[in-house]
Amino acid sequence: EEAQAKRLRQPIVVVLGHVDHGKTTLLDKIRGTAVVRKEPGEMTQEVGASFVPSSVIEKLSEKLKKMLQVKLEIPGLLFIDTPGHEYFSNLRKRGGSIADIAILVVDINEGFQQQTFESIDILKGRKVPFLVAANKIDRIPGWKPFENEPFLETIGKQKKDVQNRLDNQVYDIVTQIAQAGLNADRFDRIKDFTKNVAIIPVSAKTGEGIPDLLALLAGLTQRFMKERLTFAEGPAKGVILEVKEDLGLGHTIDVILYDGILRKNDQIVLGGVNGIITTKIRGIFVPKPLQDMKLSKYDFTSIDEVYAAAGVKISAPGLEDALAGSPIYAVNSESNLKEIENKIEEELKQVRFYNSVEGIVVKADSLGTLEAIVTALNKENIPVRVADIGNISKRDLMEASIVAQQKKEYGIIAAFRVKTQTGLDVGNIKIIYDDIIYQLIEDIKKYIDDIKN
Ligand code: GTP
Ligand code: MG
Repeated sequence: EEAQAKRLRQPIVVVLGHVDHGKTTLLDKIRGTAVVRKEPGEMTQEVGASFVPSSVIEKLSEKLKKMLQVKLEIPGLLFIDTPGHEYFSNLRKRGGSIADIAILVVDINEGFQQQTFESIDILKGRKVPFLVAANKIDRIPGWKPFENEPFLETIGKQKKDVQNRLDNQVYDIVTQIAQAGLNADRFDRIKDFTKNVAIIPVSAKTGEGIPDLLALLAGLTQRFMKERLTFAEGPAKGVILEVKEDLGLGHTIDVILYDGILRKNDQIVLGGVNGIITTKIRGIFVPKPLQDMKLSKYDFTSIDEVYAAAGVKISAPGLEDALAGSPIYAVNSESNLKEIENKIEEELKQVRFYNSVEGIVVKADSLGTLEAIVTALNKENIPVRVADIGNISKRDLMEASIVAQQKKEYGIIAAFRVKTQTGLDVGNIKIIYDDIIYQLIEDIKKYIDDIKN
């Protein structure tokens, strides 16, 4: 045994899945359970995330000794709130994601839907391991609820035919995951978790299965991700979730820090709409403690420093142009400012670019979605001339019309959650709009094929 074990940070857990399958309800239930079970002082407040301390996970999974034998070394789990595709996409980092693990929520009664498959594509593309929460088990005909019990307890108390019905539904999910090229099984039947996706039947409504889900998240991340979770002492690294204007604070950014330490007087470097922004932190904020229920959500406490992983709000001059999804790095006396600026500039250029290939124009609403679309197009061998954020401009129309003269099939603009700038005459340029990445790619493919044939 190492005499001095390295400190581990909390794994970042993100939730995604098809619309209405229960992502928000599941997170609310987890948060609610954590608030009830914590001791005073155990819980830190986060922006855009919820922290569940290990003590709570240990308490909840007392009955699951077999699953969670060890005392946890990780301090807890950090769940990213307000999930959905945009947010997950904003958790991008070069070559991957800041998410250490994901929960893919699937309504067990509906099985995989379009966005479930799309979610798996995104997870595979960014190499994020995931568990499947097979949600809404309380709706299986004949199900008898036992509030907040582990799945391993409640399943034994169900009638045989109900158990069979559940297993049939789980098996359907196993088959659908196989279509995406992965092995899966119900979590209690898995021996090697590195080779199989674990399916945990849960109910976000009754809380059944949530102890199992938390125990597995904590157990697996701690066991298989030690290196990735080892805390780095250096200046902070993070990603911008949202750019906002906050009462009394001016323009602020909500940031998830995944590494290092952020201090009040740090210089920070981040991506902006018109280039790199280098500025100095004015304040770091977290919400006031939950106990003060009478306070509005605008009430923040200023803190002097924060250790990753964490969700914080940052105020600083010049943040009005900050770019959601951009990396943000802190600079301290030992670090080389120029080097960090170049690094972020390079990273942004990989996602937002203008070049001269005969390819399509892609406009999207955020860095994360833009990157996901361009990656998907690359996979389909569809060339891209312009990849940028924001509404369709005169220049975009011009670029598309230049391409249309040479290669008609590529003279198009793909628009993801953006519009044309007001008063712009589109002329005869083909614009393909869609709010679902998968659908947008399908529509582009179809348009190109139709012209070619
Ligand atoms: P979007 O954010 O719109 O993609 O949906 P979501 O995945 O966050 O789903 P949400 O949590 O909003 O749940 C959708 C509906 O399903 C709501 O009416 C929930 O009350 C219901 N629901 C969620 N989980 C459960 C569950 O475990 N059991 C039952 N019976 N209903 C559930
Ligand atoms: Mg939701």
